Amino acid sequence: MSAATKDLKRITTHILMEMKKKGEKISMLTGYDFSMAKIIDDAGIDIILVGDSASNVMAGHETTLPITLDQMIYHAQGVVRAVSRALVVVDLPFGSYQANPEKALESAIRIMKESGAHAVKLEGGEEVQESIIRILASGIPVMGHLGLMPQSIYKYGTYTVRAKEEEEAEKLTKDAELLQKLGCFALVLEKIPADLATKVSQSLTIPVIGIGAGGGCDGQVLVSHDLLGLTKDFHPRFLRRYSDLYTIIKEAVEHYIRDVKSADFPNEHEKY
Ligand code: KIV
Repeated sequence: MSAATKDLKRITTHILMEMKKKGEKISMLTGYDFSMAKIIDDAGIDIILVGDSASNVMAGHETTLPITLDQMIYHAQGVVRAVSRALVVVDLPFGSYQANPEKALESAIRIMKESGAHAVKLEGGEEVQESIIRILASGIPVMGHLGLMPQSIYKYGTYTVRAKEEEEAEKLTKDAELLQKLGCFALVLEKIPADLATKVSQSLTIPVIGIGAGGGCDGQVLVSHDLLGLTKDFHPRFLRRYSDLYTIIKEAVEHYIRDVKSADFPNEHEKY
């Protein structure tokens, strides 16, 4: 955390804009529950995203599509209770905003009212602009998400790098400009070529947070389970693992099992 932001009580969308202006990189991680969010917030993260990747890493689904609005709100409530500094952004899950702007607004209002989160995120550009306009008009900050959009996995058929071809890169650039014009406070760019992400980041005044989009973005986001090594069979090139919690936790549990089986636990001091 830099000297500029460490004393601030609470990260706001305004502060994120200031960070971009100053060239201070923005850190963002996913969080889905009270205990992990408390650690991540205490460490000084700027944004906690209650991502719909909860569908994968918390519920074990293959895609992000099955998670419901009620489940997202449940995850967000735990995170919000834990956090005292980070901005908490919650993903609008698949099916909660695509049908029409009214439904999108209702979903966003439920998230804000029932969880106490500070902003919502949704996937898409031009196709969802009416929903974005409606949500923003009610005073709810919106973060955009372009590039690889996991809620559209059955349209793409693969989780490979997006916008490598000129046509898709042009659409992404236009969508990014549109999201800024509509009033989104920030934008996630997922798994696109680094040069394109750098260009978009430099041309926008709102912060651009990358995942698998290179170092030219204004900030970075990772799924906390991936960064901590809780997931062990996911090895995309963009992922840097900072720990191997899978092994650490497994070894601790194996140790506990050995101690129980050998009657070493509990000992004389570990009882009443
Ligand atoms: O749901 C999620 O975790 C996300 C990040 C990958 C940006 O949207």
